[in-house]
Amino acid sequence: MKSQRTRLDRFMSRQLGIKRQAIRPIIAQGRIVVDGEVACDVQQSIHQFSHVIFDQQVIQNNRPRYVMLHKPRGVVSATKDNHHKTVVDLLDDSLDDLFDNNERDKLHIAGRLDFNSTGLILLTNDGRWSRQLSSPRNNIVKRYRVELEKPLDERYIFAFSKGMYFDYEGITTQPAQLEIISSHVSEVYLTEGRYHQIKRMFGRFQNEVLELHRLSIGALNLDPQLSPGKSRELQQREVTGIFDTGK
Ligand code: URA
Repeated sequence: MKSQRTRLDRFMSRQLGIKRQAIRPIIAQGRIVVDGEVACDVQQSIHQFSHVIFDQQVIQNNRPRYVMLHKPRGVVSATKDNHHKTVVDLLDDSLDDLFDNNERDKLHIAGRLDFNSTGLILLTNDGRWSRQLSSPRNNIVKRYRVELEKPLDERYIFAFSKGMYFDYEGITTQPAQLEIISSHVSEVYLTEGRYHQIKRMFGRFQNEVLELHRLSIGALNLDPQLSPGKSRELQQREVTGIFDTGK
C-alpha cells in the first residue's frame, strides 16, 4: 500500500489537469478549502481522507471504512477472483446500503487467511491503518485456534517459541506462543503472517492442520454474533482499540 499523502499543489494539479505552477494563484485567491479551512500553503499535506472543496465544488470526500468479516471455508482472501467467491463478494446486504461500488473497490484486506481457514478478516480503505497493523514495530498479535490430526505434546511449545527456519524465504519465524487446549487442539499466537505459516510449522511435526480459525487481531476479537459469511463495520473505539496491547 503506497503512501496516500501528497502536497496540495500536486493534488490539485492532478485533479484539475493543469500545471502545478497554476495552482499557486488559485490558492492565493482563497478558492480551495481543506477540511473546512481556506488553504493558503501550496505544500499543505493532503491525504486520502482530506475533504477538499474548490470553487464550492467537492473535489474529494472519502470516508475511512473498517469492516470485520467472519470468513467461512472455501472463500478467497482477495478482492477479485475469476473462479471463487471472495471475501469482498461476501459483504452483507446490510453493508450494501453503506457502500457504493466505488467505495467497495477501494477496500483491501488487512491480513489474509488461506482458502480453507476461517475467522476474523478485516477490510479497510485506510492504508495507514492496515500498514500499522502489519508493522513489526507494533507487535500486533494474531490468535488462532488450530485443530490437528495427531496429538500435541510439549515439544511443540518449545519449537514454536524458538522460531523455525523457513528455507524458501531464508528466514527464522518470530517467537510464537502455543498453548495446548486439548489433545488435538491448540491456540497459537503469531506476530507475523508468513505464507501458510501455521500449517508449515505443524508440518515440521508431520501433523496436519484440520481446522484453522482466527479468533483475534490485536485487541479485537471476532464478534461472536457474526455467523460465518457475515460482516459489520467496526466502531470507532475498535478501530483505535485494536492497537491496545495493554503495555
Ligand atoms: N497460517 C496458515 O497456515 N494459514 C492461515 O490461513 C493463517 C495462518
